[in-house]
Amino acid sequence: MTQLLAVEGLSKTYTTQGRVTRAVRNVSFSLAQGETLGLAGPSGCGKSSLARLVMRLMEPDAGDIHFQGQNWLALSGRTLRHARRHMQMVFQDTHAAFNPRSTVATVIDEPLRIHHIIPTGDRPAEIARLLERVGLPGDFASRPVLELSGGQRQRVAIARALSTRPALLVMDEAVSALDVSVRAQVLELLVSIQKQTGLACLFVSHDIAVIRAVCHRVAIMEAGSMVEYGETQRTLSAPQSETAQCLIAATQTLRNHREPDHVQP
Ligand SMILES: Nc1ncnc2c1ncn2[C@@H]1O[C@H](COP(=O)(O)OP(=O)(O)O)[C@@H](O)[C@H]1O
Ligand SMILES: [Mg+2]
Repeated sequence: MTQLLAVEGLSKTYTTQGRVTRAVRNVSFSLAQGETLGLAGPSGCGKSSLARLVMRLMEPDAGDIHFQGQNWLALSGRTLRHARRHMQMVFQDTHAAFNPRSTVATVIDEPLRIHHIIPTGDRPAEIARLLERVGLPGDFASRPVLELSGGQRQRVAIARALSTRPALLVMDEAVSALDVSVRAQVLELLVSIQKQTGLACLFVSHDIAVIRAVCHRVAIMEAGSMVEYGETQRTLSAPQSETAQCLIAATQTLRNHREPDHVQP
């Protein structure tokens, strides 16, 4: 497998009003083309901070990132703006990310325009194609984003992210707010897009069951450090850290709790 992303010794400390938080501590991992790496861990362990460092939405205090064979942290200005199309992110709260007055078309058109992905005249057809790819009808383009359901909005967010034809998609709790059946549909969609396009994914979730379903490998964080890292089934069947053991136990308890729903009459 071709290596796409290599992160080495990444660290980030926040200092706000005299309070020091070591959000990411000496974290290393890699991601191959077409691979999904799950990033799990309890709330506040540093998952979003790590995702934002990889996206270069903020700069690390230390560490290296190589992406597509380039020193990602050395890129700046125009070169960085151009390169950004290859790495896209989907957040949990797309409600806040989209301008409520926008239509679906304007939301998806924006990155197409900014990154000059295709000629202006071809953009409406491309928007329809992207909507179809995420399982929405082409005439959704004229809908105001305000009228969409949570699942529809996440599909639009994915279509927008895919519009620049990225090599890496970072999903930060992007399915966490969806109800179980909609979540399953969006996850299926992600897996099928990956099969077609070789897209790699850094999949951030606090939910081990979701990670188990879609990730080839998993990394688990605790207080900024990575405490587990390996092939998903192997890592989750023999977790070494207490954090991982607790997360796994919590999903199992939930599953047992839900059992009666699944019992056939
Ligand atoms: N912008 C920020 N300023 C100060 N502290 C922050 C900021 N963002 C996150 N933190 C702190 O850093 C730690 C990691 O947060 P975060 O990366 O959001 O974790 P997670 O996504 O795993 O819940 C937490 O203690 C959080 O309170
Ligand atoms: Mg987070």
